[in-house]
Amino acid sequence: MTSLSFYVTVGRGTESFANCEIRRKFSQKAAVAMSPVNFVSQIRDGKIIFEIAGNTEHYIEKLLGLKCVERAFVKITDYENNTKGKREFLDRLMQTMSAAQTFDTAQKVMDQLRLVLSNINKKVKINTSSSTMSHKAASSDEPCSKKIRLSEDSSCDEVKNSPESDKLLDDEKQVFKTFRMSVKCTGKSRRWIDIKKLSKDLSRRVSRTCDWLVDLRSPDFEICLHISDCHVTAGIPLTSIPLSRRPFIMDPGLRAPVAWIMVQLADIKPGDVILDPMCGKGTLLLEAYSHLKDACYIGVDKDLSQIQVAQQNVFGMSSQKHINLFHADGLCLPFKPLSVNRVICDAPFNQKHFTSTKADDFYVTFLEEMYRILCEGGSLVLLTSQEFSSMITPLLLLSKDNSTCDNGQDLPSEKIASDKKSNLDVGCNARHKFTFQFVSKHYMKLGESHGEIIVMVKL
Ligand SMILES: C[S@@+](CC[C@H](N)C(=O)[O-])C[C@H]1O[C@@H](n2cnc3c(N)ncnc32)[C@H](O)[C@@H]1O
Repeated sequence: MTSLSFYVTVGRGTESFANCEIRRKFSQKAAVAMSPVNFVSQIRDGKIIFEIAGNTEHYIEKLLGLKCVERAFVKITDYENNTKGKREFLDRLMQTMSAAQTFDTAQKVMDQLRLVLSNINKKVKINTSSSTMSHKAASSDEPCSKKIRLSEDSSCDEVKNSPESDKLLDDEKQVFKTFRMSVKCTGKSRRWIDIKKLSKDLSRRVSRTCDWLVDLRSPDFEICLHISDCHVTAGIPLTSIPLSRRPFIMDPGLRAPVAWIMVQLADIKPGDVILDPMCGKGTLLLEAYSHLKDACYIGVDKDLSQIQVAQQNVFGMSSQKHINLFHADGLCLPFKPLSVNRVICDAPFNQKHFTSTKADDFYVTFLEEMYRILCEGGSLVLLTSQEFSSMITPLLLLSKDNSTCDNGQDLPSEKIASDKKSNLDVGCNARHKFTFQFVSKHYMKLGESHGEIIVMVKL
């Protein structure tokens, strides 16, 4: 039985959600009707590394559909960096990258990928002209000038036949012949590793071992090497465009994996009315719509230019009739009481977008307004800064057994259901006109800032 190792890169705070998603997709249960699965994963250095045995073609398609990850890689090598001193470290690295065994694995992986690509070529759009990895002139007469890559929509959810896809089989022999090394160092090794020289030396080794040509400008594929204080990991990205770059969003706002997590936490059901009262470019609504079409989505923003971008993004999607956008104040909404089932909102952090009044007044008014428009039992999934989050949490009711922040450990519906039954004994300030029960809190790193998703339910 074939066994392949992969890894995905993930943002800080999203690791356990991504691990959950991977487990769900590749677990024994999910894999019924496929060959037996051997699934092992470990999380470290912003990566989830896992091994799967079974029907590889099927798994690669599934990998391309992951929503909570940044990029997916086929693993070439991964070992503990326990060498003593620079010389020993470099010797081991050079040895590994030129060892026949490493090369064999890499070759096997490339063959698997080629097989998968040719098998799914009827379903994915193949772009032969504009690979982000490659800007090489199409007229180049080099042997491997033609490039193939999976389109941005590599999720295989909305895959279509494309005229170019027929070319794939003809081009197969030319695929994966040129490469480039990308070396990234984190931690102490950054101080003494000369990345340029190391990339050059490694490229020479790999080239000699594999008969692949180095092409720095427009390679057919990339070998990514990450050296951290504890591990050395190398792999080949499955797609040149990160999986986190959603093809259906022309002008993205919030990072897609974070938006996806918020949508999962909102636990949207068919027929629900979902509101984002500060929708910006509409990322959350578009992510939610791509997850569940059979619901009514409403976006509001007080900034007209944001609404216009959101409108463009919505037009970019194939069907927009379920996403309605309004230019209005999210703190004073033109909606009836009890008219919304779920609120998802990425509120101002006072960094790029600012609260119109003092932050505590702003958030109290916000919670009051959300309380007014939400149905009983309706949930509010709010992303805000860590600072604002610690100001909001004391205003919520906490149940006896529910005051922790366990990233992704619990699935939203189960947690909400169990909490509704539990006794409430903490929190809530009688001065405010809202009663929300705290459900969970999840740390998210957002660029340079630190945010928290708070999940709460209207009682
Ligand atoms: C952090 S951004 C949201 C970004 C959005 N999630 C995206 O992906 O583009 C916060 C948004 O809240 C909006 N906003 C701030 N105060 C508001 C208010 N009182 N009513 C409606 N929108 C407001 C801002 O205009 C901004 O677009």
